[in-house]
Amino acid sequence: MCGIVGYIGNRDAYPVIMKGLQRLEYRGYDSAGIALYDGNELNLCKTKGKVADLKKLCDETTSTKGHVGIGHTRWATHGIPNDVNSHPHYSNSGNLVIIHNGIIENYATIKKELIKRGYSFQSDTDTEVLVNLIEDVMINEDVKLGKAMQIALNQAVGAYAITVFDKRKPNELVVARLGSPLAIGIGENEFFIASDASPFIEFTSNAIYLEDGEMAVIRLGKQIKVRKIQDDSLVDPYIQELQLNLEQIEKNGYEHFMLKEIYEQPSAITDTYRGRMLANEGIIRMAGVDDNIERLANAKRIIVVACGTSWHAGLVSEYIFEDLARIPVEVEYASEFRYRNPVIYENDVVIAISQSGETADTMAAIKLAKEKGAFVFGVCNVVGSSISRESHAGAYTHAGPEIGVASTKAFTTQITVLTLIALKLAKYKGTISDSTFRLHLQELDRIPEKVAKVLETNEHIKIIADKYKDVSNCLYLGRGYNFPVALEGALKLKEISYIHAEGYPAAEMKHGPIALIDEQMPVVVIATNKGHYDKVVSNVQEIKSRKGKIIGIVTEGDEAVRELADYVIEVPDTIESLTPLLTTIPLQLLSYHIAVMLGKNVDQPRNLAKSVTVE
Ligand code: M6R
Repeated sequence: MCGIVGYIGNRDAYPVIMKGLQRLEYRGYDSAGIALYDGNELNLCKTKGKVADLKKLCDETTSTKGHVGIGHTRWATHGIPNDVNSHPHYSNSGNLVIIHNGIIENYATIKKELIKRGYSFQSDTDTEVLVNLIEDVMINEDVKLGKAMQIALNQAVGAYAITVFDKRKPNELVVARLGSPLAIGIGENEFFIASDASPFIEFTSNAIYLEDGEMAVIRLGKQIKVRKIQDDSLVDPYIQELQLNLEQIEKNGYEHFMLKEIYEQPSAITDTYRGRMLANEGIIRMAGVDDNIERLANAKRIIVVACGTSWHAGLVSEYIFEDLARIPVEVEYASEFRYRNPVIYENDVVIAISQSGETADTMAAIKLAKEKGAFVFGVCNVVGSSISRESHAGAYTHAGPEIGVASTKAFTTQITVLTLIALKLAKYKGTISDSTFRLHLQELDRIPEKVAKVLETNEHIKIIADKYKDVSNCLYLGRGYNFPVALEGALKLKEISYIHAEGYPAAEMKHGPIALIDEQMPVVVIATNKGHYDKVVSNVQEIKSRKGKIIGIVTEGDEAVRELADYVIEVPDTIESLTPLLTTIPLQLLSYHIAVMLGKNVDQPRNLAKSVTVE
């Protein structure tokens, strides 16, 4: 996955594109590039490295003049990250230049054909193949860029969001999407192109999100023409008014986006249930659920499909749905589900969870589920994202933009939405009493202030981070609702500090991982006073007798674990089903501080990307 930006209008394109690339850097950051047309020349500047490296290089070496241009920040798929493989890519004539997010799967076959026809290639990328295919069509069919792109894309297999510029037509940019997002910002006789709206939010709040299989010719002084790539039919584009503001996408004084997003959780969770839950009245209103209540409540089974952190939120929801609504739940890695031949019945409900709403495996899983007749309910954060549009119904998490690659507030808000849905279905089905329902609502209403209280333990967590920052391995244990939290804690540590970590159900420790425990091994144990507290305390004793180092996540006032542990971090008391919303917070902070102390790039960990729009 990559970030793409384009501009055409009266402003200087360079600062608009460069700033836009910085905002999209979460999408990929192994190389970056920009192409600007100054009225005579098409100037290209690209490099391995981050957008800051690109800016330095361009400022020193390239003409940054021009009112039209395109830029790219890359997460490599075909071809290693180096200067040559960085985008943009020229066509052989030098007339066309392209940026691309996605993968052209049949690029090797097309490349062979083009080589036979005399084309040569500088890079190892599929993107350079695509731009030359477009050029080849333009020459052989004697058509303009828009038509050539359409013909070429009908030969390409794969996923893309692309922008192409032809220096012979300096008032025009042509864009297309299939499987990767692309938004067009519409200003006063100026247009912005981007993978999401963040690069142009300070210039306009009007945008068109292209649908899969659509392309658009954007011409200064003209109305945007949107067409279906497959059959050339014209589409009436829907212009959205965006709700995003600049403050939401900047760091606001925090050192990293991840820290900002951890601290945003009290307000993000409130935003998730605001207007949906009336705790005092005992009411939950959710349009996506209300409109489909029969379908959802009568589900014989819920299948959750998701990846990474969203999959962990799905695991938490398995406990909630089964516990409260008495609906059997299976939680599947979307990447596995899509390639099995899963048994799906028409009365199954598939819940797809995705922060970005663009994860390719999750998208493919829901397409498969739909083909097999299941009802698909999307839980996404990004409004208007592909998964939210592909689902039959859904609920947004309303967490606000999450920029840090490591998911934090996405996780807690996903759990919040899933809890609301489970409660709503449980109430409708009569599987919980009115008093239990009301208790859940009242407790959920108190969660933001309790999360804020957990955040006050930050300085204490820093001390623990300093103590364990140099370890090579770490074990995370939890039971019941907190088993998925253990998995999530381990994932957070792995992805930003590169320390190997494993999450396990606490009771499974004796079936293997206990062999790992010695005086070098820190074990983070989630041991709140609910669920199987006594049994978890026994596990803590087992670790202690093998000299493992214990960090306990405990309920305020805990005594038994405190006596055994090297450190404890307290969280306020709440009902068992909501404990993950509290116990997750110290684990996020612990991995954050360890990564910072180790000098790692917290917001852009190596090899990762914020949303994985490739398989
Ligand atoms: O956007 P999604 O929620 O679909 O993304 C799924 C995973 O790629 C994501 O959760 C990933 O595991 C994060 N880096 C976790 O912090």
